[in-house]
This record gives sequence, structure tokens and C-alpha cells, in this order.
Amino acid sequence: MSSRKKIALIGAGQIGGTLALLAGLRGLGDVVLYDVVEGMPQGKALDLTHVGPVFGLDFNIKGTNAIEDIAGADVCIVTSGIPRKPGMSRDDLVKTNADIVRKVGEGIKKNAPKAFVIVITNPLDVMTYLMQQVTGFPAARVCGMAGVLDTARYQAHLAEDLRVSTTSVSAFVLGGHGDDMVPVRSYTSCGGIPIERMMAKEKLDAIEKRVRGSGGEVVALLKTGSAFYSPAASAILMAEAYLHDKKKLMPVAAYCNGEYGVKGIYLGVPVILGAGGVEKVIEIELSAQEKGQLEKSVSSVRSVISIL
Ligand code: APR
Repeated sequence: MSSRKKIALIGAGQIGGTLALLAGLRGLGDVVLYDVVEGMPQGKALDLTHVGPVFGLDFNIKGTNAIEDIAGADVCIVTSGIPRKPGMSRDDLVKTNADIVRKVGEGIKKNAPKAFVIVITNPLDVMTYLMQQVTGFPAARVCGMAGVLDTARYQAHLAEDLRVSTTSVSAFVLGGHGDDMVPVRSYTSCGGIPIERMMAKEKLDAIEKRVRGSGGEVVALLKTGSAFYSPAASAILMAEAYLHDKKKLMPVAAYCNGEYGVKGIYLGVPVILGAGGVEKVIEIELSAQEKGQLEKSVSSVRSVISIL
């Protein structure tokens, strides 16, 4: 029996294709690239197969229009759905993407019942919630990619402004993956120094505002879709934490069962990610302002869930 891991990518568009490349480059395992568009996943898979010899990679990649080909996948990363166009919010995608997520969720439940599922399709927190409902998988095995990306955006812009390496900046963004996400200033630091001692309040306010709107900034520039390199990279980091049992603390959209006063929905919170999936939600104390922002973010997620 093969000991290679199997990574199923549900949706072979901009993010799906990038995920396939990164999964190959990082040696995560064999990849199945699934999409409803005929020929496209097969074409991308063939192209990626030709990357193997260039970098000396041994990974098998198969493009397919048959959901049965994801059988036995260890990890499923879901990007099937439509992306935003300029002027749209992530929530504008809800009806179309909910139908798609319901469909692929059934396919995952049937063909890959033991998989760890990472959802990227927007509106993220709600699509992750829906995926868990449809598959009926334990909540620890279904999560959404948001906090890793939102945090990376915060780190990138802080590091850029401070003119330091991104690796010096440690940051946190919690809450829903929407324009009211919560950059947690009180836990953000540069080389261990609290960020508020490194930067003026006005500057921090401006950077946090930009982080909240970063996804939209990319959409406005691209005009035909939304960010894809960074969402893919973020999901690969999560898949690695699971496959390599890293027990890594990272913010992901996880099911809350009373943590942060939130019950019954998915929300961006810090978790330990390891072989057990979301092994633990970590509760941190927030400032009064951060608490207020988180509550606002929770209301937004709940109002989109009510559309379902
Ligand atoms: N089954 C499988 N794939 C599907 C289905 C389905 N039922 N419906 C649509 N797709 C595929 C599309 O054919 C397309 O190839 O999903 C793919 C989505 O790819 P893109 O349009 O390139 O979108 P992408 O940029 O990858 O973003 C995907 O992630 O970040 C979010 O907001 C973004 O919801 C969007 C998703």
C-alpha cells in the first residue's frame, strides 16, 4: 500500500492550480485536481507533471472531472465556487457558492470520508460551516483558511512599514474573513517588542484598515477575480500542519463551542493544528475594543448564515 499522502483539490481554478503547484513543490504527496470544467484540470495536471523533472520532484498529479477520483484523500482543499468581481463583497457570493459547496460536500462525504477538509471558498466562515453540516464530519476535521492569510497581510504591511523582515513580525488577525476582521494589536509584536511601542497609533490604524480591505484591493486591481497566490500558500501551511502533525498554533476558521462567547458557528480563532485536525481552540484575553470588534464580526457571520 502506498504511504504517500493524497491531496484532493476541489476546484482547479486560480487557487486550485496554485495549490497543486505548491503541494508539489513542498512535497505534500500526490495530487488530484478536480473541476467541473472539462479538460481544464487535465490540462493543468499535464502542465504540472512537466514541472517534476525541472525541480526533481516525484509527485503524481491527476486532473479529473470525476469526483470519485478523490477517493481516500487525506486532505481536501475546497476552492470550487465563484470569486469576487470589483464592487462585490464576499457575502454577495453566498447563494451561488452555497449550492456548489453543498454539491462538493456530498462528494467529499461519499468518497473521502476520512479527509481533513480546508475550505477556501467565500464567504469563508459560512461556507466552512455549511461544509461541516453537509459532510457531518467532526468539527475538528473541517476548518477554513482565513486567519493565516489575514495575519500574513498584517505582517507584510507592518514589516514593510518598519523595514524589517516579515519573520520578525508576529501578529494575529481574528474574527470572520470579512471587512470587519479583527487585527489583534495587543498580541502583535516585532522581535518581541509590543507593536504599539514600535509604531504610532495613527500608523497602526491605517495599516489595519488596509489589511481589512486587502482582499478588495487585490480584486480592484485584478478586475477579473480575487487573490490566489496567498490564499493557496496559506492553505498549504495548514495542510502541512495536519499532515506533519506540527501542533502549530495558527488562526483558522474553526467551530466555536462557547469559546469567545460564541457557540455554533465557524469563526477565525487561534487553534492548535495537528494530526487531530483542529485539536484545540486557544482563548486569549482581548482588549475591550477588540472584544467589541469581534462581536461585530460574529454578527456579520451570523447574518450571512441566516441567508442559507
Ligand atoms: N465542482 C467543482 N468545481 C467547481 C464547481 C463544482 N460544482 N463549480 C465551480 N467550480 C470551479 C470552477 O469551474 C472554477 O474552475 O471552481 C473553480 C473556481 O476557480 P476560480 O474561478 O479561478 O476562482 P478562485 O480564484 O480559485 O477562487 C475560488 O476561493 O477565495 C475564494 O472568493 C474565492 O470563492 C472563491 C474561491
